[in-house]
Amino acid sequence: MDSVTVRVPAKVNLQLAVGPLREDGYHDLVNVFHAVSIFDEVTAAAESGMSVRVEGESADQVPENDDNLAIQAAVALARHAGRSYGVSLAIRKTIPVAGGMAGGSADAAAALVACNELWGLGLPVEDLMEIAADLGSDVPFALLGGTAVGTGRGERLTPLEVGGTFHWVFALADEGLSTAKVYGECDRVRETAGEQAAPPRTSEPLLAALRAGDAKALGAELTNDLQPAALSLRGSLARTLDTGRQHGALGSLVSGSGPTCAFLAESEAHAAALAASLRDAGVARDVLVAHGPVPGPTVV
Ligand code: C5P
Repeated sequence: MDSVTVRVPAKVNLQLAVGPLREDGYHDLVNVFHAVSIFDEVTAAAESGMSVRVEGESADQVPENDDNLAIQAAVALARHAGRSYGVSLAIRKTIPVAGGMAGGSADAAAALVACNELWGLGLPVEDLMEIAADLGSDVPFALLGGTAVGTGRGERLTPLEVGGTFHWVFALADEGLSTAKVYGECDRVRETAGEQAAPPRTSEPLLAALRAGDAKALGAELTNDLQPAALSLRGSLARTLDTGRQHGALGSLVSGSGPTCAFLAESEAHAAALAASLRDAGVARDVLVAHGPVPGPTVV
């Protein structure tokens, strides 16, 4: 086999409950991940060394060296297999960079799947999951896709039953936000307010809305504990969220650590209309429509 191409989706968080800061610098979470139809493509081609090239959406902001999470994934997989494999990775980006939609994690997950195939390793998904958890908290979900609740730092996953398709609109911001910075700001905002972080708990009404495929109920249950921190670092997002609400979004929230804002629509047609309103209002660099849940990485 000369090359393998894998298509991998972005995610939005439907519930992101953040517990207190742990001693290892992470936070215990209840993280309800939902894969949506915005895709990156990663092509792995046979080569003696390891290299990565990035093109597409904000490609100039993605490192093309060892800092690239997809290359780190390939290196970790070769190490796991105990062999000195090489690969040239080509990443075509559509998922916003540093946007709170786990684009880097998605590319790492796609690289694991593509290299497993290219190198003929035939490793089971359980092995890839272990490697994924070492690469980053969101990488295991990026391997799984669909809708799932993550606990621990988000890496311990339980797939969730979903009774329908949901229609989404995403408002992209000019510049990304650092995940670590947003978590740090979350701790700071809480401390300033004298708030004690409670142990995170899964929202039962949210799970019921997912099972029923009830967009209206789901919209009312969307929550993100990182949102006040993202708004504190990027005040302009408040106007973006307001604009979506004014145009009938069933729910509006910052996606993950932001700055992408997510809006739940009633239908595909409503999503298209909502996207047009957000574009007209000039509150986003770009606006994308998508649906979820969608499956995880797929060889194309
Ligand atoms: O796991 P990942 O490398 O994606 O995490 C990036 C940063 O986000 C961590 O260094 C940490 O600051 C923060 N984080 C956290 N708690 C989590 C996940 C991430 O504080 N559960």
